[in-house]
Amino acid sequence: MRYSLLKQMLSIQSPQDLLKSWFKEACEKADNPETQGTAMTVSTVDPEGSPSARVVLLKSFTENGFVFFTNYDSKKGRDLATNPRVSVNFHWPHLGRQVHVFGTAAKTSRKVSENYWNSRPRESQISQCISKQSRPLAESTSLEELYNSYANQWANQPIPCPENWGGYEVTPTSYQFWVAQPNRLHQRVESTWENNQWNTYELYP
Ligand SMILES: Cc1cc2nc3c(=O)[nH]c(=O)nc-3n(C[C@H](O)[C@H](O)[C@H](O)COP(=O)(O)O)c2cc1C
Repeated sequence: MRYSLLKQMLSIQSPQDLLKSWFKEACEKADNPETQGTAMTVSTVDPEGSPSARVVLLKSFTENGFVFFTNYDSKKGRDLATNPRVSVNFHWPHLGRQVHVFGTAAKTSRKVSENYWNSRPRESQISQCISKQSRPLAESTSLEELYNSYANQWANQPIPCPENWGGYEVTPTSYQFWVAQPNRLHQRVESTWENNQWNTYELYP
């Protein structure tokens, strides 16, 4: 009998709950949970309309969506400052599943960013502080030297969260769930937020 993803979706509370349970399973069944479970591709659009995609890590779920952390002055941060719309893709080959989310991204509160920053290893904090993410790196610049110099400068002191670093909360407006099936008769179900409710329907694969 054909496994009905649609039925499964309808039997749970919301698409967000389904994403959460798939995410949990993807992490539990991954050889490397960080790269295989929590990795997602986030696409943004610049003011000229050119799209750009990169992998980031999903760090937490919120009531409305989910959160990733980055440098606000990076390419993605600059894109989001002018256009908050994002397309996010999760691909879990070890489960034969994909989820494609459309939504908007908004900066998390400073408190959320600082709390996560304080939980990070000191080495990651230093690397983040010396990185002008997405900017050209001069040939004459040694990242190792920058790292060591920063580490010495801040020896024995807590490293504060930089102003230009923090989280984005993605609030989905639609989700597409995809499950691999034999003979390429894949199941694909979309849930879109319309008229204050989730409308759920199947799509051709
Ligand atoms: C598995 C993986 C996880 C990554 N996680 C993050 C992340 O959580 N935050 C981040 O800013 N960059 C992360 N990166 C680096 C980004 O893919 C990207 O190179 C960087 O954020 C700069 O992107 P941008 O120039 O498009 O803004 C990760 C890369 C990989 C391959």
